[in-house]
Amino acid sequence: MKGIILAGGKATRLHPVTKSVCKQMLPVYDKPMIYYPLSALLLAGIKEILIISTPQDTPRFRHLLGTGSQLGVSFSYAAQKEPKGIAESFLIGEKFIGKDSVCLVLGDNIFYGDNLLGLLQDAAGIDSGAVVFGYYVKNPQRYGVIAFDRRHKVVSIDEKPAKPKSNYAVCGIYFYDNEVLKIVKKIRPSPRGELEITDVNNAYLKKGKLNVKLLSRGYAWLDAGTPDTLIDASIFIKTVEDRQGLKIGCIEEVAYKMGLIKKDNLKKIASGMVSGYGAYLSKVCADE
Ligand code: G1P
Repeated sequence: MKGIILAGGKATRLHPVTKSVCKQMLPVYDKPMIYYPLSALLLAGIKEILIISTPQDTPRFRHLLGTGSQLGVSFSYAAQKEPKGIAESFLIGEKFIGKDSVCLVLGDNIFYGDNLLGLLQDAAGIDSGAVVFGYYVKNPQRYGVIAFDRRHKVVSIDEKPAKPKSNYAVCGIYFYDNEVLKIVKKIRPSPRGELEITDVNNAYLKKGKLNVKLLSRGYAWLDAGTPDTLIDASIFIKTVEDRQGLKIGCIEEVAYKMGLIKKDNLKKIASGMVSGYGAYLSKVCADE
């Protein structure tokens, strides 16, 4: 399975902060926002990842993340010229995806919870169809919302409905078989001029091939696209990290623990960083 991180958009809800800095580079406590969705892809066992951003920010992501070899994986980069929708990622990444299945994650989504690894690896193991996740939220009208019938069967997904039919939002991580390339070519831009990921999900639903997994309340799913949610996410991460002395979304630690890099590689990365983050990586090397 291939992985795509979409880290584009204008992030107008964070202006003026994001007028000259890309949202997904902003710190969520002690690391750039993109580290969190990237760690989710690594946990899912995905080793080939395409990072899509704006033309001006793509070189900055390349500077931040390089070729991926330091993490034992491979990164490629592509630009989305205009913010024409999340589903455009598959058109931009068509060559990269080739004949594979693909997981798309949004660059501002943070996932945390027990056995996240198992959950993501199960989803990454699909042979056909799609897997998406639903999460109970207070303000579903901001998201793609899942509508259920009386037997709890999913009947539709509505993008940012004024009157949501449930409190279950569709999270920003999606697993698709290779059919997604055909499906995305059939969908048309929505009234806001975007290729909607919700239309892709509804196409799978119509074919009876959309597997919706609800995350239980023990999980945290956060996005960080407004001043409030950005600081909330930082406080959440700081609280858990401080309490345990263990980091969340630490891509180098994940790569090491997933067996993608050796201890010597991790030591080298750690010695290149004088921050608390570097000290943490040294500690990971020292612990067995
Ligand atoms: C997008 C999707 C929405 C999904 C959300 C998850 O919304 O359109 O269906 O629930 O991501 O973060 P956006 O936040 O880009 O407006």
